[in-house]
Amino acid sequence: MMRATFLTALHLLIIPLNKVQARSVLYGACDVANNHLDVNTKAFITDCDSFGYCSTNGTCQPKQCRRDEYILSSLLNTDIPIPPLCPSGSFCPDDASGCLDLVDVGGECQLNRDDECAPPPDGTVLVVPSPFDEPEGNGSICLLGQCVWSNISLGSTCIIESTTYIGYDISGMSFTNIVTRDNCIQGQGYCDTNTTTCLSLVGIDGSCQEDRQCQSYNCQRGVCIIPPETSRKVGKWVYAITGVSIGIGMAGVLAILLLMHRRAQTKSRIMLEEYYKEQTAYRNSIISFHSALSGKSTREEIKRTMSNLSQVTLVEKH
Ligand SMILES: *[C@@H]1O[C@H](CO)[C@@H](O)[C@H](O)[C@H]1NC(C)=O
Ligand SMILES: *[C@@H]1O[C@H](CO)[C@@H](O)[C@H](O)[C@H]1NC(C)=O
Ligand SMILES: *[C@@H]1O[C@H](CO)[C@@H](O)[C@H](O)[C@H]1NC(C)=O
Ligand SMILES: *[C@@H]1O[C@H](CO)[C@@H](O)[C@H](O)[C@H]1NC(C)=O
Repeated sequence: MMRATFLTALHLLIIPLNKVQARSVLYGACDVANNHLDVNTKAFITDCDSFGYCSTNGTCQPKQCRRDEYILSSLLNTDIPIPPLCPSGSFCPDDASGCLDLVDVGGECQLNRDDECAPPPDGTVLVVPSPFDEPEGNGSICLLGQCVWSNISLGSTCIIESTTYIGYDISGMSFTNIVTRDNCIQGQGYCDTNTTTCLSLVGIDGSCQEDRQCQSYNCQRGVCIIPPETSRKVGKWVYAITGVSIGIGMAGVLAILLLMHRRAQTKSRIMLEEYYKEQTAYRNSIISFHSALSGKSTREEIKRTMSNLSQVTLVEKH
């Protein structure tokens, strides 16, 4: 058992070590020609470690910019300043060699980097808002390494870019994720693979083969369905009925409590009254018993008083 655990740990350690081994530290040697995207994951690979970029003169220089607002703690090093985020109107390229100006339509961009493309001037490109709050771009996207506008109307010829991402889970099993993108008007159409023309997005309950065909971007078992993260919109009448129901419920509980309280009060009042009556009767009996004993009463009277007394005692016990 111990041995198995140890072997697994060793196995997990070796893989990353092998990959990281070749990286140069800051100011070490590197070759710009080795910059590339990983075939499987499409992650950017360079000769330099995570703190540097490969400069054209063949040395690893400190990174000049970053894309992520938050930084992995493993990338923090007190000796190396954290590279800044790029100001708006510019972007940080994959190698982080410094902020560059946004690329105009027709210019070069990197894979999955729509943020490198300058948005089209206001009103030039239509973006149909998604009724399901699905994220949409601003009309300019990076397709096949070039910034284009997503302005192709229904029935016109469009461009398709299909990227296969392959990852490995912790058990070594691979999984693939194919992302297909096109330049049809966002929120209006998708690019049909067979005909490379823009077709209208499919509504809820329409048939589909891929998520991207659905207006809701969610294709399950051949049918477009509402995405799980969609916020539910509730009508005003539902709020009204809920509010009134809560009010009625609270009033009902209050009324029941009041009723119960009143009943309990009445019950204890009656009990007290009976108690006092009994006490008075008891007292009167004792007094008459006393006077009988002191010789002023007949034998009959004494008997009656005695029986009264026993009745009273019985009632009291009851
Ligand atoms: C390489 O270029 C960087 C700037 O990109 C410069 O700061 C550095 O001094 C250069 N190193 C050599 C060895 O030329
Ligand atoms: C919209 O354009 C800006 C550039 O002004 C860019 O930074 C941003 O990433 C774009 N948004 C989307 C969703 O593509
Ligand atoms: C669509 O965008 C392209 C650039 O990607 C542009 O050249 C073309 O004029 C636009 N077409 C329309 C109809 O706006
Ligand atoms: C493409 O065409 C083939 C047959 O012509 C069909 O089976 C397939 O479903 C079509 N694919 C799409 C995405 O429409």
